[in-house]
Amino acid sequence: MIPALEIKGINKSFGPMRALSDINLTVDQGEFFALLGPNGAGKTTLISILAGLCVADSGLAKIMGKNVVVDYQSARMNLGVVPQELVYDPFFTVREILKIQSGYFGNRGNTEWIEEVTNSLGLLDKMDQNMRTLSGGMKRRVLVAQALVHKPPVIILDEPTAGVDVELRKSLWKFMKNLNSQGHTIVLTTHYLEEAETLCKRVGMLKQGRLALLDTTQNLLKRFSGISLSVKTTSSAMPKSLDHYSMDFLSDGEWVFRLSDYSEVEGILEELRKANLPVKSLSLREADLEDVFFSVIKDN
Ligand SMILES: Nc1ncnc2c1ncn2[C@@H]1O[C@H](COP(=O)(O)OP(=O)(O)OP(=O)(O)O)[C@@H](O)[C@H]1O
Ligand SMILES: [Mg+2]
Repeated sequence: MIPALEIKGINKSFGPMRALSDINLTVDQGEFFALLGPNGAGKTTLISILAGLCVADSGLAKIMGKNVVVDYQSARMNLGVVPQELVYDPFFTVREILKIQSGYFGNRGNTEWIEEVTNSLGLLDKMDQNMRTLSGGMKRRVLVAQALVHKPPVIILDEPTAGVDVELRKSLWKFMKNLNSQGHTIVLTTHYLEEAETLCKRVGMLKQGRLALLDTTQNLLKRFSGISLSVKTTSSAMPKSLDHYSMDFLSDGEWVFRLSDYSEVEGILEELRKANLPVKSLSLREADLEDVFFSVIKDN
């Protein structure tokens, strides 16, 4: 089967700034894939290259087998992108915007599909409202609908849930899961890592323009498995005797120890007692994608 996305040796610089370095990535049809990375890692740049909004300095990218440069139109027909930025035309109603967008893709007989999309996104009662009168979350729903008017097999969502309420987030994911189960390939970038963990079977992590990690979510959680012990004491410093532990200081006075076994907790508490540092709060949890993310960002 042709891959949904095929990215080979992509490089992109903005002046002296290397935004992407030798990116190689294949996403199969039907995958629900997470593209993660801290601010400025290159996620949006990679998406812009796929969407034909930005041209790579070298390398090759294909969507459903169509080269995004030499076969731009076919590639774009196969792709729906929900952009990170809220860009919209304030002079049109939701209905008009969706009609215009359908026109771009040469789609006319798609009324039923548009109705299904707008219904699933809770937009039906907003169809005749002007874009500028919609709330931020509603505008974002329209951006999602806009990306889907031509029923693309590959859908890329660039932080679609930034600044949206829990209800929309849930309904958006339900809708995306449904599209995925119908065979659509979905690539998601998000800073909500629990979202990626529950939705995406495979994860790619970009760090300073490089693909620092690529594996199934399950393997990553296994590989980085461990226990996090979060402790707050009356002091912001930890006793020297705990120096051999892997630990991070969080800005709110909390220390996070990375443990491989629950039995280590007792030893840590004992050292705190010896140092006369009363524990103000303590919590234990098993490693999640956020721990994987932080260890990759720190180490690689
Ligand atoms: N048009 C541009 N001109 C110059 N530099 C750019 C341009 N677009 C992106 N960059 C730079 O390229 C790097 C990658 O940016 P990009 O927007 O791809 O990151 P990102 O991973 O999407 O980050 P975020 O999580 O903040 O959205 C950044 O350093 C950014 O400043
Ligand atoms: Mg971005």
